[in-house]
Amino acid sequence: MGQFEGKSVFITGAGQGIGYGVCRAFALAGAYVALNDYDAALAENAATAINQEVGAPRVTAYPGDVGDVTANTALIDAFAQQRGGLDIVLANAGITRYMPFLEATPDVFDRLLAVNLRGTYFTAQAAAKQMITAGRPGRILLTSSIVGQVAFPNFSIYSLTKAAIQMLAKSLALELGGYGITVNAITPGATLTERVVREDPDYERNWAEVTVTGRVGYVEDVVAAALFLASPEARQINGHNLVVDGGWSLRSPLPDDHPTLPDKQDYA
Ligand SMILES: NC(=O)c1ccc[n+]([C@@H]2O[C@H](COP(=O)([O-])OP(=O)(O)OC[C@H]3O[C@@H](n4cnc5c(N)ncnc54)[C@H](O)[C@@H]3O)[C@@H](O)[C@H]2O)c1
Repeated sequence: MGQFEGKSVFITGAGQGIGYGVCRAFALAGAYVALNDYDAALAENAATAINQEVGAPRVTAYPGDVGDVTANTALIDAFAQQRGGLDIVLANAGITRYMPFLEATPDVFDRLLAVNLRGTYFTAQAAAKQMITAGRPGRILLTSSIVGQVAFPNFSIYSLTKAAIQMLAKSLALELGGYGITVNAITPGATLTERVVREDPDYERNWAEVTVTGRVGYVEDVVAAALFLASPEARQINGHNLVVDGGWSLRSPLPDDHPTLPDKQDYA
């Protein structure tokens, strides 16, 4: 018996990267998973690959744009009806765009808010309604980012969406706790995925250099956080923001010749 045997799990933005890793882990742990992605071919291929690895038809592709609230809600409703309920949702779909504040445009602003914020907000709402209707306790997880709590250059739009997601987790935790639903945010730091390697082929080495643990984050680090927050052991954790960044965001700049520092160690 897997840890999530028979559970119904819906994950957005899961054709690759972190979402794919979480889908795979839930399927290996016995869950039935709806794998959503904007890219339909990617979603189908990802579901097929996981099912082959698991050796059972545990994952079904549910392609669609989370920014289209009506269509995305219909996908969640269809999956919940087909499965007789919904236990866990990870609102993970998110897009990034590096853009200096002075060059930002309303089109880019609206698209990032549509996917990262509206998509996350209404994925959580559709999931909560299904959980409440079925009268079963549920887990809602929201993917934030470490740049939602520390500023990063040229990331103002993306960062504000991810900061809002951390607040959203607290607000929903308060409103949904009485229904037996917990809501938590997961906040990854630099995490090695196919996408980030396309943006920077030296991503793994570059981020290891500036991370306290001396290593970049891997998808399995975020997967472990998601599985823990969805587990029975985490039932009393509600409205929490679980940071998975190897301590990257802990540092403060130190003056080179600070007279009272006992050593000059560079804390990464
Ligand atoms: N990788 C990192 O370093 C990192 C760090 C912090 C936070 N995050 C967050 O984690 C999440 C996953 O990141 P990743 O690196 O795995 O990303 P990724 O780009 O590898 O995967 C995201 C997937 O979401 C899909 N997607 C994009 N727009 C969508 C939409 N409108 N509807 C449905 N699916 C859509 C994409 O097609 C893609 O397959 C994102 O929310 C991201 O902001 C990532």
